[in-house]
Amino acid sequence: MTERRQLSGGRLVLATHNKGKLREIAELVAPYGFSVVSAGELGLPEPEETGSTFEANAVLKAVAAATSANLPALADDSGVVVAALHGDPGIYSARWAGPAKDFAYAMKRVEDGLKGKSDRSAYFVAVLALAWPDGHTEVFRGEVHGNLVWPPRGEKGFGYDPMFVPEGRSETFGEIEPGEKHAMSHRAKAFSQLTEACFGRKTG
Ligand code: IMP
Repeated sequence: MTERRQLSGGRLVLATHNKGKLREIAELVAPYGFSVVSAGELGLPEPEETGSTFEANAVLKAVAAATSANLPALADDSGVVVAALHGDPGIYSARWAGPAKDFAYAMKRVEDGLKGKSDRSAYFVAVLALAWPDGHTEVFRGEVHGNLVWPPRGEKGFGYDPMFVPEGRSETFGEIEPGEKHAMSHRAKAFSQLTEACFGRKTG
């Protein structure tokens, strides 16, 4: 196996224009001695997500930011994969909510697609890509598997959370406390792999 490249302190660009994600990731990397700056703050353009996989989209966003900023950059891509819908909405999860970002509508589209189908299994995916200005990349994937329910339940999450029940639980991600969800989520799994492989030990 090839060795993972490590990153130790300094500035890290977060290749997102989403303030919520920026805050969440800044908090996660803070203990490792990084200061985070967003692609938006640096005025970097947002590349079009033309990849056909979560990995390809995360990598293209991270590479674009690392190259333009000449700093290491971290990007993520995530979504929900529904087996009976042949993997949809998948990389198009955000787009299924339309320009109004209406996730009640996106969940209804999923439910309509599941009508008459017995397989209601689905999983959330989060892929994190770390890119260096020389083009080197490291990629990490986290998944959480479960089943889709209808009608949606709970107000605590976002996106498709109210219709997703993780394996071994009876509540939806919309009903589970955010702290508990964050500890078991696809994003948490991808992050823990990334910090272990690339950030070395916590500085405290
Ligand atoms: P992107 O990663 O910004 O392209 O957006 C991915 C989309 O997937 C989000 O807009 C959400 O709809 C969905 N998604 C990703 N992670 C979660 C999650 O933890 N809960 C609910 N929906 C999610």
